[in-house]
Amino acid sequence: MMLRFAAAVVCLMILGACSKPEPIPSSKIEKHDFGKNGSGQDVDLYTLTNSKGIEAGVITYGARLVSLKTPDRDGHFADIVLGYDKIDGYLKDTAYLGAIVGRYGNRIAKGKFKLEGQEYTLARNNGDNSLHGGLKGFDKVMWTARDVSTAGAPGIEMTYLSPDGEEGYPGNLMMKVTYTLTDNNELKIEYTATTDKPTVLNPTNHAYFNLSGEKDILSHVLTIDADRFTPVDSGLIPTGELKSVQDTPFDFRKPTAIGARIEDNNPQLKLGGGYDHNFVLNHAEKDLGFAARVNDPKSGRVLEIQTTEPGIQFYSGNFLDGTIHGKGGAVYGKRSGFCLETQHFPDSPNRPDFPSTVLRPNDRFTSTTVLKFSAAK
Ligand code: GLA
Repeated sequence: MMLRFAAAVVCLMILGACSKPEPIPSSKIEKHDFGKNGSGQDVDLYTLTNSKGIEAGVITYGARLVSLKTPDRDGHFADIVLGYDKIDGYLKDTAYLGAIVGRYGNRIAKGKFKLEGQEYTLARNNGDNSLHGGLKGFDKVMWTARDVSTAGAPGIEMTYLSPDGEEGYPGNLMMKVTYTLTDNNELKIEYTATTDKPTVLNPTNHAYFNLSGEKDILSHVLTIDADRFTPVDSGLIPTGELKSVQDTPFDFRKPTAIGARIEDNNPQLKLGGGYDHNFVLNHAEKDLGFAARVNDPKSGRVLEIQTTEPGIQFYSGNFLDGTIHGKGGAVYGKRSGFCLETQHFPDSPNRPDFPSTVLRPNDRFTSTTVLKFSAAK
């Protein structure tokens, strides 16, 4: 009798333990060591977690987004950005994985531009052209982190003072990038900057996404809210034309698999080795508006992008060639990830008819991009 009673008590205790509701995690921010950069300075990793369990990792080297864990349709979390396990990978990286790129995201033709009558010559690192800020852009510098979390929204502000003349760009530029994770399952990336001389600026984030964990992203379904794109020459510099996407493989106004037309016999796809083009977004300039959505039918994961920027560079990872061994030893082959870089158009400093990228003293640069994560049944 006594034994049966004891057993019942144990059962109740076990059942009690089992049926106890899972504690609701609260949002948080944590700081971890992430090794040292090439000069022996400490690199820190900040991990932002929201109350739904979504997690974003950002390091002080290149202000890079190094991890982003989101749930699939069954609630299983996986990391959806390409990257490396350790700092060494980022120090050697030439593909800008997760990086903030700047001062000028994408290309400036021949590494030259004129501003207020003066010609500036930039570091050339892409044939004749300057790409993503030059030889040592924002992706390779140390940023200073500050915890700017508020209730329910962990946030980290990264600051970098780019000195006058750096990589050929004029003006001391005070640059800030803030990553905030909201309980609405959004990662908000906000950029602000001021300068003491007229300069040009076009920063963006260069994360590569793969929502499925498959070896390529060709079955991901993409929507881009753009009626036009900027065709390029053989150096991937815009020709200046704003071309209609109608009846071309660049029409993503209706959801279309990335791989559906990527091998079409289209001169622009040939020049890019796939998609590597700026799309002219339809939303009103400076408003935070819908830019793109990517839906992975396999996992159900959906990534939706809103931005205040007038353009978005859709890059289908054509230059990834299997030489990068990323997280967990994964081989990043051709098109194993895609980038959607919210931005002003490439080579704008040489194109007065494109939206301006000039920043003047007393003006304040602001730009916001929101990545929203969900899962479709
Ligand atoms: C951008 C460019 C590409 C390539 C990658 C980095 O997306 O448009 O041409 O340079 O960056 O590899």
